[in-house]
Order: sequence, then C-alpha cells, then structure tokens
Amino acid sequence: MERETITAGDLVLRPFVVNDIPWVHDVSLDPAVQRFLQIPLPYRRSDAEFFVREMAIAAWDRRQRAEFVVTSAGDGTRLGRVGLGLDGSGAAQIGYWMDPAARGRGVATVSVRALCRWAFDRLALGLVEWRAEVGNVASRRVAEKAGFRLEATLRQRLVHRGVRVDAWVGSMLPSELTSPPARPTRPASGD
Ligand SMILES: CC(C)(COP(=O)(O)OP(=O)(O)OC[C@H]1O[C@@H](n2cnc3c(N)ncnc32)[C@H](O)[C@@H]1OP(=O)(O)O)[C@@H](O)C(=O)NCCC(=O)NCCS
Repeated sequence: MERETITAGDLVLRPFVVNDIPWVHDVSLDPAVQRFLQIPLPYRRSDAEFFVREMAIAAWDRRQRAEFVVTSAGDGTRLGRVGLGLDGSGAAQIGYWMDPAARGRGVATVSVRALCRWAFDRLALGLVEWRAEVGNVASRRVAEKAGFRLEATLRQRLVHRGVRVDAWVGSMLPSELTSPPARPTRPASGD
C-alpha cells in the first residue's frame, strides 16, 4: 500500500518519518496520553522509536496500520497523530492523540473526519470503529463531533496497566460521513 498524504483545510496529514521520533517521545510524556493510551510506562525514547519505525512505517508497508502525523499546512508544525489499525476484512479501529500545544482548536475533530473519509474512499473500508476507556470525555466528544455513533458501553473490555476497565464503543459507516468537515480554528499567531 502506497503511503499517502491527506489534505484537510489548513491541515496536512502525512506519513511518519524517523525524524518524528523525538516529537512522539515528547507528546507521549503528556499526562493525558499516559492516562488513556496503552503505552509503556515509563515511556522511553526506544518506545517512540518502536512506534514510529514499526507501528507507523513498517506496519503501513505490511498493510496492518495507516498512521499519519497531523501537521499545519502553513509551516509543517506537528499537531498530532491519527491512525487506523486495519483488521484485514474491511474494517479498522481508529486512534488519535494531539500535541498538548495544539489541543482545543478542533484539530482532532477535523483530522478524524479526514482520516475516515480517506479510509472509506481510498481503502474502501466498510466501517471504522472507535473505542475509549469510559471517562475519556475528550476522546468521546471528538468521536461524536466527527460523526461516530456511540453504540454501547462494553464491560471490562479494555486492559489498562493490567486492570480491566469499561469501554465506550462507537462506529462510523461510509454513508454517515456526508456533510463537509468543519474547518479547524486557525492557530493563534506565534504558534
Ligand atoms: C482527545 C484529544 C485528541 C482531543 O484533542 P483536541 O484537539 O483538544 O480536540 P478538539 O479541539 O477537536 O475538541 C473536540 C471537542 O472535544 C472537547 N474537548 C476537548 N478536550 C476536552 C476535555 N478534556 N473535556 C471535555 N471536552 C473536551 C472540545 O471542547 C470540543 O468540543 P466542543 O467543540 O463542543 O467544545 C486530546 O485531548 C488528546 O490527545 N488526549 C489524550 C489522548 C487520548 O485520550 N486519545 C484518545 C484515545 S481513545
């Protein structure tokens, strides 16, 4: 599968490169990322290297994942990450995190919509699923604003640091991504 770039308003979603490793490390030290993502703790530089080299670059080449760095179209600033885990049968599970400096501007919502649109158009997926630990209201709000339909609360369906926790699950079908995506709020000058 060719690695591709997606443009969405003021955003460009591009494939990962090894130069992204220090930034992935920095963002992965953020408390909200550590609270809600299934990542190693303590999070080391080698973990970021594994994510970029194996989960973003090699897994794309194996058609297992499609991971993107969300950047500003203007100056290429890294804003966040959105990605899909492909199940091989026409569905995928979405994941995302934003750089703390880029949160609260609608970037996640626009990026998630753009990724879903790309997945339906270019990968011909029939469904994208979203799951989050119950209580991750920011993730849920992004998913719902992007167009996911909340389906259920699954009991004890995620394992977080060895502890089973309840999960919200939602999904989006191609026919549900009809209206144009909202434009992201422009970054404040100086960002
Ligand atoms: C979830 C996350 C990606 C949201 O990023 P973001 O860029 O701030 O999201 P947006 O700006 O697109 O916000 C979308 C909506 O979520 C709301 N939101 C964002 N953070 C919130 C929070 N902590 N609590 C409640 N609502 C929140 C926003 O207000 C907005 O809703 P509104 O337009 O009605 O006000 C970001 O908080 C993050 O990286 N969290 C840590 C990683 C994570 O949990 N990822 C998801 C794993 S399933």
